[in-house]
Amino acid sequence: MNKAKRRAVIAGNWKMNKNRAEAKTLITELLPLVKEAGCEVVICTPYTNLETALALTEGSNVKVGAENCHWAESGAFTGEISAPMLKELGVQYVIIGHSERRQYFGETDGTVAKRVRAALESGLEVILCVGETLEQREADITGETIAIQVKKALAGVTAEELRHIIIAYEPVWAIGTGKTATDEQANEVNHMIRELLGKLYGEEAAEATTIQYGGSMNAKNAAGLLAQPDIDGGLIGGASLKAPDFAAIVEAASK
Ligand code: PGA
Repeated sequence: MNKAKRRAVIAGNWKMNKNRAEAKTLITELLPLVKEAGCEVVICTPYTNLETALALTEGSNVKVGAENCHWAESGAFTGEISAPMLKELGVQYVIIGHSERRQYFGETDGTVAKRVRAALESGLEVILCVGETLEQREADITGETIAIQVKKALAGVTAEELRHIIIAYEPVWAIGTGKTATDEQANEVNHMIRELLGKLYGEEAAEATTIQYGGSMNAKNAAGLLAQPDIDGGLIGGASLKAPDFAAIVEAASK
């Protein structure tokens, strides 16, 4: 394992939080705290905050992402936003397949794969989320569940395109619950994902892929998780809503 071969990425997932004024305050507070970051810093905001985030982060080291995109370029999909629309705004990243989308909005491995394809075609960087439920973990099918999610989402993705994909391992039982996977539990799954990528794309591509952990990562537990050999960053929900907390995680990833 050679962590030096890949970029560490700390990404905030704001979910459905922050109005425009709050977004402005948070970003203004965050920028000076992370300006010396030794890792990549991304904030994924609700669609309504993207323009504000892009304007405020211009010329800084903080990149902006969306939390989802549709698979079609345009058309009769009321309420949806396409990948080219995000690209045109100047957005660089997009989260795809978050467990809340899978749980509440009917997202399937099939629709995740279509969204990944659309995002790549538009030149967006993808943060692809995978993760097992508590029931799946207890039934001892974590490995199988994750392997199916990864394989289906990456169907048709070439080794060249894989460079534009970050995988975020987010155990569903750890999201927003305050229950974090232990450092070892998280690393075990990240390692398994990397082995799978090795089989699908070869060792070199697997070694170069950033694999994050997400699920109640915070200022206190980040250092331990990020010290693991296969954890290359984090996707941060709750703790990304407070600038000092998010900045502390960025600092832990910068070491
Ligand atoms: P959490 O969310 O950090 O609040 O658990 C992580 C995520 O859902 O991406």
